[in-house]
Amino acid sequence: MAKGKNLLGLDIGSSAVKVCLLKPVRKGLGLVVFDHHPLPPEAIVDGALMDSSSVVDAINQLLKRNKIRVKEVALSVSGHSVIIKKIPLPLMTDEELEQSIQWEAEQYIPFDINDVYIDVDVLSRDPGQGQMDVLLVAAKKDMINDYVSVAKEAGLDPRVVDVDSFCLQNMFEVNYGKVEDQTIVLLDIGAGTININVVSNGVTTFTRDISMGGNQFTEEIQKQLNITYEEAETYKRGGDATDAVIPHEVEKVIQQVSESVAGEIQRSLDFYAATTADSGISRIYLSGGTGSIPSLGRIISRTSGVPVELINPFRTISADDGKFNPQFLESIGPVAAVSVGLALRRTNEL
Ligand SMILES: Nc1ncnc2c1ncn2[C@@H]1O[C@H](COP(=O)(O)OP(=O)(O)OP(=O)(O)O)[C@@H](O)[C@H]1O
Ligand SMILES: [Mg+2]
Repeated sequence: MAKGKNLLGLDIGSSAVKVCLLKPVRKGLGLVVFDHHPLPPEAIVDGALMDSSSVVDAINQLLKRNKIRVKEVALSVSGHSVIIKKIPLPLMTDEELEQSIQWEAEQYIPFDINDVYIDVDVLSRDPGQGQMDVLLVAAKKDMINDYVSVAKEAGLDPRVVDVDSFCLQNMFEVNYGKVEDQTIVLLDIGAGTININVVSNGVTTFTRDISMGGNQFTEEIQKQLNITYEEAETYKRGGDATDAVIPHEVEKVIQQVSESVAGEIQRSLDFYAATTADSGISRIYLSGGTGSIPSLGRIISRTSGVPVELINPFRTISADDGKFNPQFLESIGPVAAVSVGLALRRTNEL
């Protein structure tokens, strides 16, 4: 059997591009590269690539400064151009499903069926009831093609296009194991998008993307304190090396925005609860750069009544202390979550 190798994980987020490379080691996986490079604002808006040359440039910088030779990459997309839905269908074989999915999918997708790529995964079959549940994934061809082109322009060979929520689930399983008999929520709060992924007994049963994130915090601090975006960003992150005093209003603004973000997340969780017989969520795992805001996790926990824990995507991945400062890895963990999930994909499993 041909031995496969890990793909380079390339997470093109709206505020920064992240790369992660893993390799098999004696006991599990080892970290070879993790790095990120910022993107100018407006380079990506609601998942759409508005300024692809900046993105190509960021990828090139990352490849060069980390001396990355691997060309095969795994990419991911999220946002409103991606639809993920659990749908009930009459019981059928895999072949029958493949033939009918295009037609079945039509009624669940708000886009022209010819404009989307479709993928489907059988969640469960119930021969007694003559029913089955499948997870339908549809993504706009335009957007996928744009992401693939950007990677190709940077000299890379895209092998996989994944969805952020599924990357998070893979990353979670490798680090925390498959959680049976429980429902957990994986929450990635980035700069512009919140991905909510409800995983019940180890299977994704509900996902939703909300157009909110760290940008709201920065914009609100900027507006209420009447300062520049850059100053607001520094205050949001708890200051910089200059030891300048952070005005106490900043925490108040962070709390206000956290309340509204938590409220929006809760609306989705309430919707999920109303549409399933699930007995309840046992824990929320938080990732994404905005997940680093301590009061946000506390407020989400208070609003939902569920414990919230910050994810560590390097929990079971070994890293050389000399190459990766453990403190750096701990602080960057939330930002790295999606790219670690992508870096788990292998050439021999495609
Ligand atoms: N220590 C920190 N404290 C507060 N906010 C932070 C911190 N570190 C990063 N952020 C914020 O996290 C966001 C970036 O996170 P991330 O890299 O996960 O987003 P992204 O993937 O670029 O965006 P998206 O997934 O929404 O397209 C930015 O809004 C940034 O200001
Ligand atoms: Mg992201």
